[in-house]
Amino acid sequence: APASVQVKLVLLGEAAVGKSSVVLRFVQNEFQENKEPTIGAAFLTQKCRLEDRVLRYEIWDTAGQERFHSLAPMYYRNAQAAVVVYDVTKAVSLDKAKSWVKELQRQANPNIVIALAGNKVDLVNSTSSPAAGVSSDAEDEPDDATATPNESSTGAAESESLRQVPREEAQAYATEAGLLFFETSAKTGEGVVELFTEIAKKIPIE
Ligand code: GTP
Ligand code: MG
Repeated sequence: APASVQVKLVLLGEAAVGKSSVVLRFVQNEFQENKEPTIGAAFLTQKCRLEDRVLRYEIWDTAGQERFHSLAPMYYRNAQAAVVVYDVTKAVSLDKAKSWVKELQRQANPNIVIALAGNKVDLVNSTSSPAAGVSSDAEDEPDDATATPNESSTGAAESESLRQVPREEAQAYATEAGLLFFETSAKTGEGVVELFTEIAKKIPIE
C-alpha cells in the first residue's frame, strides 16, 4: 500500500465566503443552505488519493469573523497548505483574501502551498444559452410574451449581474502572487475535489 502522508491545511478568508461549506463538501460531500458561522476553528480530516500516494489532510477551518483574526497564526503555523477563500459575488472579499495571502507569505512556512478559491460560482453560472436575455427585436414580441418573460433569460440576466470578481482578474492576481487558482461551488461541488487534489500534487514528497 502507498505511504500515507499527513498534510496540515488551513482555510482562511472573510466571514461567510463559504470556507466551512467547501470543507463540508470535500469531507462529507454535503451542503447546508444555512450553515452557522464558525466559532474559533473546526478540525476535520480527509484522505486524498493520488496515483502514487495517499495524503491525509488535517484541516483547520478557521472563523472569518474579525474578532477571531488574532487566532489565525496558531492555525497557519506549520501548515503545509492553505486555501484562501473569497466569494465571487463580493468584491471586498477578494481584498480580504489578498491580505491573508500577504500575511501567509510573511509569517507562514516559506514552502507553504497556497490556493486561492473563488467560491459560490453557482450563483453566477448560467446553464441557459449565451444569447438568452439578449433580444434586439423585443418590441416585435406579442403583448402576452412581454407580460410573461421567459424564465431562463431573466435568470441569466440576474446571474450575470451578481458576479463582482471577474475570473480573469482573480486568475491574473493568483499567477502574479504564485498561487493555485480555482473557482468553486460548495453548493454544486464544482471545483472542490480538483482544488484539494491539485494542492496535494504540489506537496513535496518527503
Ligand atoms: P465563517 O465561519 O463565519 O468564517 O463563514 P464561512 O466562510 O465558513 O461560510 P459558511 O460555509 O458558513 O457559508 C456561509 C453561507 O454561504 C451559508 O449560508 C452557506 O450555505 C452559503 N454558501 C457557502 N458556500 C456556498 C456556495 O458555493 N454557493 C452558495 N450559493 N452558497 C454557499
Ligand atoms: Mg465557517
